[in-house]
Amino acid sequence: MYRLRHLLLFFFVVALVGCNSSNKEKTNSEERSIRKIALLNRVSALPTEVKSPKYNKPSANKVALGKLLFYDPILSGDKDVACVTCHHPNTGYSEFLDLSIGPNASGLGSKRRFKSPNSIPFVKRNAQTILNVAFNGIDANNRYNPEQATMFWDERARSLEKQALEPIKALEEMRGNNFSEEEILNVIVRRLKAIPEYQELFNEAFDSTDAITISNLSKAIAAFERTLVANNSRFDQYMRGDKDAIHISEKDGFELFKSVGCINCHNGPMFSDYLPHVLGVPKNNKLPEIDKGINDTFAFRTPSLRNLRFTAPYMHNGSLTTLKRVLEFYEDISNGKERNTAVPAEKFDPFVRELKLSVKEMSLIISFLNTLNDEEFDKEIPETVPSGLAVGGNIN
Ligand code: HEC
Ligand code: HEC
Repeated sequence: MYRLRHLLLFFFVVALVGCNSSNKEKTNSEERSIRKIALLNRVSALPTEVKSPKYNKPSANKVALGKLLFYDPILSGDKDVACVTCHHPNTGYSEFLDLSIGPNASGLGSKRRFKSPNSIPFVKRNAQTILNVAFNGIDANNRYNPEQATMFWDERARSLEKQALEPIKALEEMRGNNFSEEEILNVIVRRLKAIPEYQELFNEAFDSTDAITISNLSKAIAAFERTLVANNSRFDQYMRGDKDAIHISEKDGFELFKSVGCINCHNGPMFSDYLPHVLGVPKNNKLPEIDKGINDTFAFRTPSLRNLRFTAPYMHNGSLTTLKRVLEFYEDISNGKERNTAVPAEKFDPFVRELKLSVKEMSLIISFLNTLNDEEFDKEIPETVPSGLAVGGNIN
């Protein structure tokens, strides 16, 4: 897909460059290329159903178990961090914090701080939302394969099942200093086995005895995550036929979003092509080293633009605090202005150079982006978790 789009762009450029000889020829091939690119550049409503891998069919028991695990800090080395610590329903399963803070800390989102003394580093990236993560990898034709769905800003994991074990193993997310990466998953399995309620819940969910395994742990969490869907934003209603679901200025913003060129990368029902692109976003000075992204190329995966209300601050390192700042950043880079000295303008993605943006248009685009928020999702927090530990870890 990545290759195909760039190939098309290449033909497009060739068509433009090679046009001097005959104007008529130019127009024809140019138009054809534009038409081909336009086929990929579509946005649409999200599907109403979610697909699961064949090997992890959902069931009510499995989802209920996954939810308890998501809230239970027993999955962290020092029993102080749960998945929900950084992906809380009150903040759209994301958090208002530039770089996440895992073990040896307290508080939630923007109020979260390390305790002192502390030797745990910040997580080097901004927490993505879990809302709609079930659709990661979906293309403009609503096709996706949940077994291969791309995860993380640098696409280093495929599928929710594989992703779920990564935070548990990462020192700065959940593991902490007291266990090694090699031993932690077995430590967690032993802990879960010592709790009769978990034994029962796993056995029911997986319809077997002795069902507490690393693999079933990740399957239960993934099955729960696939229920965290927010697919009825005003934009979805509009695309499904309710022409009044979005206002006139928002429609103008939608037209601009397409004509300015945002849609070259933010397309499909998730508003992401799920491909890597180099933008050169500003540094976050909390980090000791600059994050070089995918294969040290400074590329990061295009993020979804759904539920931006919850995903501030923006970009892989949370370095831009508001949507206005994001749009000003795009205006800068489209003019070849470098906002990060480590990433020279000649490395910018070709689509960046095609962006045409003016100050007037920014607020209309932002009002359109706000139609992509959907506040109707599962916000119910379990009162207790089977370990008896504090629900969500040290978040108070
Ligand atoms: C300390 C904070 C923290 C904790 C705890 C945490 N996460 Fe995350 N999560 C993040 C950050 C930061 C990212 C982005 C990391 C990256 O891309 O490199 C992320 C990314 C993800 C993604 C990828 C989303 C996408 O669109 O690609 C999923 C899924 C996810 N987390 C699920 C979980 C689960 C399940 C747990 C518990 C087992 C968990 N997280 C625990 C901070 C956290
Ligand atoms: C060349 C592909 C490309 C184009 C064109 C593009 N984007 Fe992006 N967008 C990305 C990538 C990649 C990121 C993440 C960059 C990073 O963190 O390093 C991003 C990040 C964002 C974010 C932050 C989302 C979050 O949750 O952090 C917003 C908002 C955004 N883009 C909106 C837009 C708008 C509006 C336009 C048009 C003016 C646009 N983008 C054009 C690829 C693109």
